[in-house]
Amino acid sequence: MPKAYAYTRHGGPETEAFVEVERPSPGPGQVLVAVRAAGVNPVDWKLRSGYRRPGDPGTPAFPVVFGSEAAGLVEEVGEGVSGFAVGDAVFGNTVGGGYAEYALLPATVTAHVPDGLSLTDAAVLPVAAATAYDGIRGLGLPAGATLLVTGAGGGVGVAAVQIARAFGLRVVGTASEGKKDFVEQLGAVHVPSGPDLAARVRAATPDGVDGVYDLVGGDALEEAATLLTDRTRLITAGALAQEVERLGGARVVRARTAAVLDEVAQLVRRGDLNPYVTRTFPLERADEALRAVEDGHTRGKIVIEVGA
Ligand SMILES: NC(=O)c1ccc[n+]([C@@H]2O[C@H](COP(=O)([O-])OP(=O)(O)OC[C@H]3O[C@@H](n4cnc5c(N)ncnc54)[C@H](OP(=O)(O)O)[C@@H]3O)[C@@H](O)[C@H]2O)c1
Repeated sequence: MPKAYAYTRHGGPETEAFVEVERPSPGPGQVLVAVRAAGVNPVDWKLRSGYRRPGDPGTPAFPVVFGSEAAGLVEEVGEGVSGFAVGDAVFGNTVGGGYAEYALLPATVTAHVPDGLSLTDAAVLPVAAATAYDGIRGLGLPAGATLLVTGAGGGVGVAAVQIARAFGLRVVGTASEGKKDFVEQLGAVHVPSGPDLAARVRAATPDGVDGVYDLVGGDALEEAATLLTDRTRLITAGALAQEVERLGGARVVRARTAAVLDEVAQLVRRGDLNPYVTRTFPLERADEALRAVEDGHTRGKIVIEVGA
């Protein structure tokens, strides 16, 4: 039976286990893929801890396979799906997990991997890069405006900085000192994260900040908000809705469409976006991959490669 990495109840890492699962069958509107690469995201361990997103069922059916994005080769196509055929290289958001040998992808959030893009890079586009893209698009800042990205060296941050640059924005990115060179390489002015962030950003931006994309929450979000007079230009992916709405901002609005996946893949193909997969782990070491993300200080993206 195919193997997968799952959590068996809500809790910490002690709830995690490798499990054997039935090879799934695609339902209407779904494709089944033989997974080659699965992105690792903070939401994976947050869900294991019991975090629920709006619309999530109260208690899931355990074991729950980790992961919400994958890239691989189409094995089977469900009823009503057009545009995908067995053997196609695709990537997208998964239902029922991605840290596995097989994954189900709804066709509405699945796209072809363009020539020249690796399955490993494609696997991290549906969550981090698409979230970055949706946020930058939603802010709607004009070319030449200045955007502050907090958590600029993490998975969403690296994509947000590069996509903003591709849209003609000037970007200031906060990150720990150790990521200064990395953030500058992405095309942002680096400002060290930590207490009194707002003062350091003000010093780095004499003309002010026109928008904030927060990926950290907490004090970083609070401080970043003080830099804006127009709080409709404050968005976050890293804080709860009530936390940012209290400050006059909003959670990023996710499009979750195949069209957005196509657009971010084209950004990569054109050289405007490097997803910065900095570490890969085989499926057999999925626990280590997840620990590396749960540590909270990832540089770029971490991927689980299957059958590597
Ligand atoms: N709504 C959505 O659809 C959506 C999608 C994707 C992600 N998210 C959320 O967005 C957030 C960012 O995701 P991600 O994938 O970019 O995470 P990530 O790869 O773990 O990066 C987060 C970055 O935040 C920085 N950081 C961590 N703790 C910090 C602190 N106390 N103060 C300042 N900086 C801190 C780290 O940088 P340093 O090492 O430099 O400190 C790290 O690089 C997460 O909360 C995630 O769950 C939401």
